[in-house]
Amino acid sequence: MAYTLRPVRPDDAPAVLAAFASHPDMARQGDVHTLADAERQVRWMLADNLRATAIVDADDVLIGQVSIMIDTLNRSGWVSYWMHAAHRGQGLMSRAAVAACDRALTPTTADGWGLERLELGHRVNNPASGAVAAAAGFVREGRERGKFLMDGERIDVLTYGRLPADPAPTTEPLPWRER
Ligand SMILES: CC(C)(COP(=O)(O)OP(=O)(O)OC[C@H]1O[C@@H](n2cnc3c(N)ncnc32)[C@H](O)[C@@H]1OP(=O)(O)O)[C@@H](O)C(=O)NCCC(=O)NCCS
Repeated sequence: MAYTLRPVRPDDAPAVLAAFASHPDMARQGDVHTLADAERQVRWMLADNLRATAIVDADDVLIGQVSIMIDTLNRSGWVSYWMHAAHRGQGLMSRAAVAACDRALTPTTADGWGLERLELGHRVNNPASGAVAAAAGFVREGRERGKFLMDGERIDVLTYGRLPADPAPTTEPLPWRER
């Protein structure tokens, strides 16, 4: 199946609801249980300081997303991503993250967003997220010890950064659907 990227739109809310219902691990990505919750989540994704990229299937249905929250003052961005459980494990998130991060770090004069640093973090017990970060060219920078309390256990978070001068990732980016 052909997958492409485009900006998230308000009419993606039903697909966002389906993604949040697809796996219990989505609970940490937001409080989305109803269509109204999904519509609120999409409004948040469309905020001025956020660039939310949808991964869509051949029918233009959102199956996952990569968001970059922009810190204008520091020309940096915080990257987060999630994928509907039925579509995981095909390398799609790695390819989407490469495309979104490459564009974010491209100078604005070349149709990019002109950011100069990207950051992300993931729990040590979420290795799939770390594999996506590595595939998208991120460099491990640190470890926040005992950051989260989950089921009575303190969980470390691994932190990553990517700068424009870092080695370019070799992962093939997903193509953008330009409208
Ligand atoms: C993290 C997430 C986006 C990955 O989506 P995905 O579509 O499976 O990602 P990809 O298929 O592109 O890549 C997954 C990578 O993780 C690896 N992986 C998956 N499970 C793993 C595990 N238990 N241990 C080690 N690696 C694992 C895969 O092998 C793959 O790496 P590879 O391409 O080098 O083989 C998805 O699991 C998700 O949405 N999780 C819930 C939300 C979340 O945790 N988001 C990140 C918050 S920091």
